[in-house]
Amino acid sequence: MIRFDILTVFPEMFVSPCGCSLLKKAVDRGLVAIHLHDIRGHADDKHHMTDDAPYGGGGGMVMKVEPIDRCLQSVPLNGADVPIVLMTPQGERFSQKMAEELAGHPQLILICGHYEGVDERVRKHLVNREISIGDYVLTGGELSAMVIVDAVSRLVPGVLGNSESASLDSFSMGLLEYPHYTRPAEHRGWEVPEVLLSGNHREIEAWRRRESLLRTWKRRPDLLRERVLTAEEKRWMAEGFE
Ligand code: ADE
Repeated sequence: MIRFDILTVFPEMFVSPCGCSLLKKAVDRGLVAIHLHDIRGHADDKHHMTDDAPYGGGGGMVMKVEPIDRCLQSVPLNGADVPIVLMTPQGERFSQKMAEELAGHPQLILICGHYEGVDERVRKHLVNREISIGDYVLTGGELSAMVIVDAVSRLVPGVLGNSESASLDSFSMGLLEYPHYTRPAEHRGWEVPEVLLSGNHREIEAWRRRESLLRTWKRRPDLLRERVLTAEEKRWMAEGFE
């Protein structure tokens, strides 16, 4: 069971992604809880302002510290070391390894930044972590928070069925996944590799490991740099995958 508390000025953005597929099932089964907190509800002026012009001038708007602070204080904390995360392109880069680490916590608090940025005091005094989902800039932290919710939730025990087990995923294994096929065996002359129809499980398993390695070598050679190859894998590499 994991609880996400998401602080946002656009809670409605989360309704559809959390309301379908495996995430909805996980929520319905009580394995994942998603609590949305509208930062705007904690703005105390009559216009419910959550942003203001930057000190020192310049373009854009900056998210104010007080509504975020008050909103955060309204969130019940489940323990002393709850990650309180600011979603920002300046944060630590999100990865499968980080998803695994985060999935070990009973609660995650995600703050979605917006506009030109967030008052620096949020970063300095209110959060204990900053995460980026990649080297590009989104219009706000909502989509990146959804990415965290999705990637972490599927690692919570019981969310995936056995057959979809996360332990064999790309990245968990340090390799990209092998190609998948399903019926029909032939479509417009495009055939399924013979070995997959053979029923020989040892050969199928070896083919899949080889394809996985080949694909990683071609597409993401950086992943192989960190990997200790088995003798068989070294042989495949030496043979150049003929
Ligand atoms: N907000 C805007 N861009 C982002 C990114 N790349 N990662 C996390 N939060 C963001």
